Amino acid sequence: MTNHFARHRRLRQSANMRALVRETTLSVNDFIYPLFITEGNGVRNEVSSMPGVFQLSMDNLKEELDEIVGLGIKSVILFGVPDEKDAVGTGAYHNHGIVQQATRFIKGQYPDLLVIADTCLCEYTDHGHCGVVEGGKVLNDPSLDLLAKTAVSQAEAGADIIAPSNMMDGFVAAIRQGLDAAGYTEVPIMSYAVKYSSAFYGPFRDAADSTPQFGDRKTYQMDPANRREAMREAAADIEQGADFLIVKPALSYLDIIRKVRNEFDAPVVAYNVSGEYSMVKAAALNGWIDEKAIVLEKLISMKRAGADLIMTYHAKDAARWLSGQ
Ligand code: PBG
Repeated sequence: MTNHFARHRRLRQSANMRALVRETTLSVNDFIYPLFITEGNGVRNEVSSMPGVFQLSMDNLKEELDEIVGLGIKSVILFGVPDEKDAVGTGAYHNHGIVQQATRFIKGQYPDLLVIADTCLCEYTDHGHCGVVEGGKVLNDPSLDLLAKTAVSQAEAGADIIAPSNMMDGFVAAIRQGLDAAGYTEVPIMSYAVKYSSAFYGPFRDAADSTPQFGDRKTYQMDPANRREAMREAAADIEQGADFLIVKPALSYLDIIRKVRNEFDAPVVAYNVSGEYSMVKAAALNGWIDEKAIVLEKLISMKRAGADLIMTYHAKDAARWLSGQ
């Protein structure tokens, strides 16, 4: 009788036994923490749809950095929230743009903290699209020069990694060429290779003030119904020189993370996006779920799916919980 079935419970009988056979682990080294930098002084605006996430002006950055570094977080990704916008997103590639200034400041304070610069135009354009617009259309090739210029100015400011999120075709090649020509051959590209046109970005657009003023992003971001297409996107980016592959969003796209992991060798990054954060926060604030347990479970699921790294607004909380605080 006893030989007729496997006894899986043998390996689950104590906390130490479970730790011994655990297949996936979560560490503070896995996390990339997003920061929203605004202009002005004394700004610390909580994003209404993202409790616990703030738009910060430069003078409030030091305190935030102390906390991040104190928790052992090793990288941040920067998003700019500029006062002024124009048709061609000048603020994205301006020498004194908000991300360039913040990068210089952070590298001055904490030279070892890795600064990842999100390379896109949508926060800086008055129409809110990620490229140049003409006749109601987002133009591909004319956007590439501006993106390359943005990446070079970010590298010049000291960014350690360039993370282009704009989804124009050929953006990795254009940026790699731009960086190399300017002498930044050692600066890696963390490409948003597989980025879906997702309703889960809603709260981010409140935080970054980057909602498109007309239409949507469906002509450049991917259709959530597609999986094979994700492989074409990832393959193209690797061929053009991407060093990391981002899959975004994460939670509803764990199958895509797994497929990218299986087919490509580059480090895979899951972007646990704003809407995924806000849903958990809202439920937790209502007392409907156990926030700590839910967050750690969802982060481990991204690792289990194959992600090496996770961009997440939960990073500070998760780092605290993992250290037993
Ligand atoms: C910019 C960008 C977006 C996000 C990251 N970079 C928004 C978008 O494409 O509209 C979303 C991140 C999030 O929701 O947390 N292109």
